Amino acid sequence: MKDIQLLGATGSIGTQAIDIIEEFPESFRLKAVSAAHSVEKILTILKRHPVDTVVMHAEYENKIKSVYPDVTFLSLENDGLIQLVKTDKDALVLNALVGSVGLPATLETIAQSKDVLLANKESLVVGGHLIMDALKSSTSELIPIDSEHSALKACMKGRMTEDVETMIITASGGSFRDYTLEDLKKVTVQDALKHPNWSMGDKITIDSATMMNKVFEVIEAHFLFGMPYDKIDAIIHRESQVHALVHFKDGNVLAHMGPADMRIAILSALQGSKVHKYRTLFDLAKIGSLNFEGIDREKYSLFDLGLAVAKEDGLHRATLNKANEVAVSLFLKGAIHYLEIETLIKRALHAFENEKNPTLDTILAHEDAVEAFVLKEAKRR
Ligand SMILES: NC(=O)c1ccc[n+]([C@@H]2O[C@H](COP(=O)([O-])OP(=O)(O)OC[C@H]3O[C@@H](n4cnc5c(N)ncnc54)[C@H](OP(=O)(O)O)[C@@H]3O)[C@@H](O)[C@H]2O)c1
Repeated sequence: MKDIQLLGATGSIGTQAIDIIEEFPESFRLKAVSAAHSVEKILTILKRHPVDTVVMHAEYENKIKSVYPDVTFLSLENDGLIQLVKTDKDALVLNALVGSVGLPATLETIAQSKDVLLANKESLVVGGHLIMDALKSSTSELIPIDSEHSALKACMKGRMTEDVETMIITASGGSFRDYTLEDLKKVTVQDALKHPNWSMGDKITIDSATMMNKVFEVIEAHFLFGMPYDKIDAIIHRESQVHALVHFKDGNVLAHMGPADMRIAILSALQGSKVHKYRTLFDLAKIGSLNFEGIDREKYSLFDLGLAVAKEDGLHRATLNKANEVAVSLFLKGAIHYLEIETLIKRALHAFENEKNPTLDTILAHEDAVEAFVLKEAKRR
């Protein structure tokens, strides 16, 4: 039986992780959950799972405790996520938080030598160097929950990084893959949230449309597999059935396929070497054909910009991530236009200096400055 502390239990990944836990109650048990504000969803989870700890904003403590007096409540304001991962040494931590707010909890989980199942890719984008350093003095295993990286991990099983020519991750092209540059001037939030293949949280759906998500995944692959950036590539694959390919130096290419269902990546991360029987709805004859094409660098101009920041390395990854986080949230609120996401990111990168090997404290202070800058720029435009 594996006990799970689920950070971000009410989101898209969190909900699908609970689906898997409920499908295999003999293997997985939910021990703790966190959310920011979705208190009704947390109460629904508590009805079905006798969890021992809930982490949320302090304002929800009374509501939770009035129904579940025995549950330990930790507040986000009081570093509840950090306190949580310090408990229950044998539990796995599944980090399904959205945004770089997930980084301190990832680092603390590793400091506690607990295994971390990482959906929160922003942890690696912003603090990949800190995570890799922390792993050196820990017995933690870092297991990705992302369809592409789960696929790369499967392709790399029993193989050596030095034998790899290129790692290739696929991108659906997002909500606007059939739009022209001209069309993009008129798009709305509703248009942007209509992803063709995946049902995901709002932020990652927008990141998929702008191709920022693929930048983040290249950075993720760089840290997870120790691959230099010039050996990681991304291509558009409309059907989202092939998630990643590894091209080996001897000419062999391994591709990983599967339905566009994140529960499979979640189960793969949770189960380890014991394979569970899950729904196997994969019918290539029905899919018919698989299409691949290069990324249109003019239309997805954030892709090259993001890769340049990745290669530059250092604090600018945090600038890129935070400016993107704030700009996407402004777009989702209807405060800026879709194309202004890129404008704001560029201004932030221009305004702040890069710095090599930033500490966690430097990153956290820097993020506050970037957030204030982007909010001010958005008002000024
Ligand atoms: N969704 C996918 O299919 C998918 C696939 C691959 C990777 N990922 C990655 O997985 C992560 C989660 O994505 P998602 O789509 O599941 O996100 P989501 O649906 O937006 O869920 C985010 C979760 O984090 C909580 N949260 C948000 N802001 C917080 C804060 N400031 N402090 C504490 N908790 C906070 C939310 O709580 P509330 O509900 O209370 O707001 C929710 O439980 C992201 O890094 C994403 O890139 C997602």
